Amino acid sequence: MTENIDTNLPEERVPRRVIGTPPPGGDSSSLGAPASAEEPIVHEGVKFPDPVKARKAEKVAALLFLVAFLAGIAFIVSYVAFQVGDIDRTQTSNLALGSSLAIALLALAAGLVVWARQLMPKYALVQERHPMASRAEVREEVEKTFLQGAEESGFLRHKLMRRTLLLAAAPLGLLPLVMLKDLGPLPGTSLRHTVWKKGMRLMVEGTNQPIRAADFNSPGGILSVVPQGHENDLNALAKATLILIKFRPEELKSGVNLNWTHDSIVAYSKICTHVGCPAALYEQTTHHILCPCHQSTFDAADGAKVVFGPAARPLPQLPIGVDSEGYLIAQSDFNVPVGPSFWERGDAEAEARGQKA
Ligand code: FES
Repeated sequence: MTENIDTNLPEERVPRRVIGTPPPGGDSSSLGAPASAEEPIVHEGVKFPDPVKARKAEKVAALLFLVAFLAGIAFIVSYVAFQVGDIDRTQTSNLALGSSLAIALLALAAGLVVWARQLMPKYALVQERHPMASRAEVREEVEKTFLQGAEESGFLRHKLMRRTLLLAAAPLGLLPLVMLKDLGPLPGTSLRHTVWKKGMRLMVEGTNQPIRAADFNSPGGILSVVPQGHENDLNALAKATLILIKFRPEELKSGVNLNWTHDSIVAYSKICTHVGCPAALYEQTTHHILCPCHQSTFDAADGAKVVFGPAARPLPQLPIGVDSEGYLIAQSDFNVPVGPSFWERGDAEAEARGQKA
């Protein structure tokens, strides 16, 4: 620990380093330290800690080191006692290991800080450094060696060899471009569509049971829904999962396409239009759908328009109806791509607008 006391100390006042703490009351003249508590605590440009405060600080540091020791033992015991296997046991193990290690490191660091700040003498220490630039004769020597090497290699004289060498190196520069192919096939139009199609039933996520519109009749109710036949198809569900919300008719605003609802039941894509997290937190009183990833908030009563957060577009609405048995079904796929933006999205939306027109 240093403090700006006086960086221009005369030679005889510059302190010499000593290893360890000078013995109490002993000969501490190597640092010019006071021999007793009565002597001044600033001596020859070196500031010594107040002896009374230093004794207290020593006890605090010792206590912190003791805490670090106990936490370190707790870490080892936790490692043996809490075995992993399932999620619950792994969580318990992580909690015990993480908290004991954090306490051990924090206590150790705090003890060292107390030691350095309260117990060690303070003085300005100047570290001399040599100039960074090489000497002129060294630079001349390097230049001479380089030119001599270039001359001896014949790189400039042997045209054929030089050109074939450059030719040989060229493909290596292109290798990263070839490896880009490993990023996978281009998505084609797959990002524009989901598996939803006319007549496909809406199934409750988890139970995989179809939903009768008559049974989903409590305003404010919300369900997470998957397409029939794709209940366990993770690739399909990544784009096709829905949230289904039941409203009172008077709650619906102009943003909702009423032709795509049934009995004030509205279906929106559950995939956040920011970067694709599942947006499934619903606040019944405000009709807000909240995405937990970056807090984008959508107004479900108004076409899931964005009311807050980084998402740039509403959650797409899926046209729904009922079949002859009263079960909720899709009337078609979404008319715009679901989820986050991608570079061809503008084309896809223009295409959808064209179809609508
Ligand atoms: S993914 Fe939903 S707010 Fe970012």
